Amino acid sequence: MFDLIVRGGTLPDGRVADIGIVGDRITAIGSLDTAESGHVIDAFGDLVSPPFVDPHFHMDATLSFGSPRINASGTLLEGIGLWGELKQVMTQDDIKVRALTYCDWAASMGLLAIRSHVDTCDDRLLGVEALLEVKEQVKEYIDLQLVAFPQDGFYRDPTARENTIRALDMGVDVVGGIPHFERTMADGAMSVKELCEIAAARGLQVDMHCDESDDPHSRHIETLAYETQRLGLHGRVTGSHLTSMHSMDNYYVSKLLPLMVESEINVIPNPLINIVIQGRHDTFPKRRGLTRVKEMLAMGINVGWGQDCVLDPWYSLGTADMLDVAFMGLHVAQMTSPEDMQTCFNMVTVNNAKTMGLTDYGLHVGAKASLVVLDASNPIEALRLRPARLWVVANGRVISQSPRADATLSLPKRPISTHRRHHPEAI
Ligand code: FE2
Repeated sequence: MFDLIVRGGTLPDGRVADIGIVGDRITAIGSLDTAESGHVIDAFGDLVSPPFVDPHFHMDATLSFGSPRINASGTLLEGIGLWGELKQVMTQDDIKVRALTYCDWAASMGLLAIRSHVDTCDDRLLGVEALLEVKEQVKEYIDLQLVAFPQDGFYRDPTARENTIRALDMGVDVVGGIPHFERTMADGAMSVKELCEIAAARGLQVDMHCDESDDPHSRHIETLAYETQRLGLHGRVTGSHLTSMHSMDNYYVSKLLPLMVESEINVIPNPLINIVIQGRHDTFPKRRGLTRVKEMLAMGINVGWGQDCVLDPWYSLGTADMLDVAFMGLHVAQMTSPEDMQTCFNMVTVNNAKTMGLTDYGLHVGAKASLVVLDASNPIEALRLRPARLWVVANGRVISQSPRADATLSLPKRPISTHRRHHPEAI
């Protein structure tokens, strides 16, 4: 007997199967008797995927666009300055309302695991307190993991070091950093060393904004890989952005990539943000600003797309849809073969789940009963359409439903049509 069966859907690997759920767990996958279920979702012809996962976000800043003003230059540095202005005037309630609104958007898009950085360069730690409360409030449907992020520099900001440690004491999950924003390369490298030591001593993961720069000499990823190995943090450390790698010397990268493989570093490019923020000082040719995604994947490095920003000082758009993120990544990284497009879908699901260390994630017996049914036939069509999330199930409960978004066409000399989906047999 099941509480819920999701019937006849197509899984991301192409299998067609029923998924049986009891309580908050998947208990069977295969051909199931729907008479034995209290509730049935009819997913015939639709893609059934494990939930989307965003391993890089800023929930304390989201939905603040325009407050107190707009980022006129569009640069990372003006964005950081603008965020500093906003921090002076925002309240804890304001952060909570914006974060919870964003979580509503995420739930409706099947985005059920989010790693959010939270700024620790604020002696009041308003964002930390607010997001710890939000984490508790949404825990029945969103896995929210928080990163202590010294936005203004672990050493460069006079109280960031103390406040970052306070945030970890308060229950923040992951150690963050921003070595390329410290005053010198040497300070940046030292911050990587100390922050990794803090994580090792506390048994925590590390996720650093690392080398978010067009400067090919920004090489903090090398130190991050070295410290990961020295401290035995293999697989528990993530380098976010790594944009400077797009312009590094190829010979240097030929040594760097194997170091990253040895340390089992996870990598999170953020294509929506990287394509609009990087290359701002370039004339032409103008760099794309994305790290070496295909080359890392080919080496076996775990790479997943992150969203980073929605309607905040750095980015004036965004939807909480990880398919938008993967769609942009696919274009900027030129991952256009069928295999590469399938990989782009996996990057916003299983690869990101691995980065976040989600152990009971996926569509298999024993996994958490969280999934999303999409109005698409397969992962590539999902990327093409970024379609409606027909049903979103979190821990065995339906938490969101959306209608199919078809247009109804009544055109001269054409049959009435209601599909954007590609059905070759109907042509
Ligand atoms: Fe970020």
